[in-house]
Formats: sequence, structure tokens, C-alpha cells
Amino acid sequence: MRFLGPSHLIFTTFAAQIKDTMDKNENYRLLLAQVKAMVKDEADTVANMANVAALIQEAFHFWWTGFYRVIGEQLVLGPFQGPVACTRIGFGKGVCGTSWKEKRTIVVEDVEQFPGHIACSSESRSEIVVPLLKGDEVIGVLDIDSEKLATFDATDKEWLEQIAETVANVL
Ligand code: SME
Repeated sequence: MRFLGPSHLIFTTFAAQIKDTMDKNENYRLLLAQVKAMVKDEADTVANMANVAALIQEAFHFWWTGFYRVIGEQLVLGPFQGPVACTRIGFGKGVCGTSWKEKRTIVVEDVEQFPGHIACSSESRSEIVVPLLKGDEVIGVLDIDSEKLATFDATDKEWLEQIAETVANVL
């Protein structure tokens, strides 16, 4: 794939490519390349989160994909794609707050089995939350929900951590 610059055209082309392959690793490889190309010249984290949420959705059509930002003692809802969601999550609360507290990715195969899971949507059945680490500091989380059980595995974890790292460490 050639990157001609941040134009609408290359993003449309990318979405079309994604639909042509059923291989998850290949989809993520294309997605990560596009994420890197898109954020490298943009210093604004919110703008980058917005476009990255859109790219992930174009690639995988999850139920909900979005970011929460650490602001003071809470995670505050940031750019997302999908239904309306909870706006504030405390440190250590839910899957997102636990990922923040423990500074690690959490894969939940069945949200009903996760103690303290915060149900923003009754449709959500499984979830992955990846912390955005800048050095040792968590600046936010990437949260993805699926309406199917056990959607996320070690492959999603590996690639989404690279995407989160890219978003957290632009410029
Ligand atoms: N389920 C999350 C809350 C955020 S929504 O899924 C968008 C949690 O338990 O932290």
C-alpha cells in the first residue's frame, strides 16, 4: 500500500482492502500501518483517538470502540464509535478502571463473569481494554466491546497494544 498523505482517498482505499481479507493478523497489520501513517503528523491526542476509533471500526465492525482519557482521578469518555456510553469511570472500577490501575490489557470473554463490570450497553458480551502507556504513566485506555462472547484473544491483545502505544506516543 502506498501512503500519499492524509487524504480521504487513502482511507477509503484502506477500508476496501480490509474487506478483501478474512485473516485477522493481516487485517491488523494493515490497520497498524494505517494508524501509524495517520497519526505521525498530528500532535493532538483527541484528534488521533477519533480517527483511530473510526479506523478500527471500519476494519472490524465491533459493537463499540472508543477511548477514555485519564483526567484527574477518573477516566472520562473520549472519541468513540458506537452507542452512547458511560462518561466517567473511577480508578480501579470496571474493566477500564482495572486496566488503568493494573497497567495491563484485560481480555474479558464473558462480561457477566467479570466482577464489577460496568454495563454501558446490555448488548455487550465480551470486551478488551488496553491501557495507553506513556512511559510508566497511563494516559487513557482503548476499550472495545463485542456483542458476541469471547471475541478477543491473544492476537487482538498483541495488535491493539501496538495501536495503543502508537496513539499514546505521537510526537
Ligand atoms: N464495560 C466498561 C465500561 C465502558 S463501556 O464498555 C463503553 C467497564 O467495565 O469498564
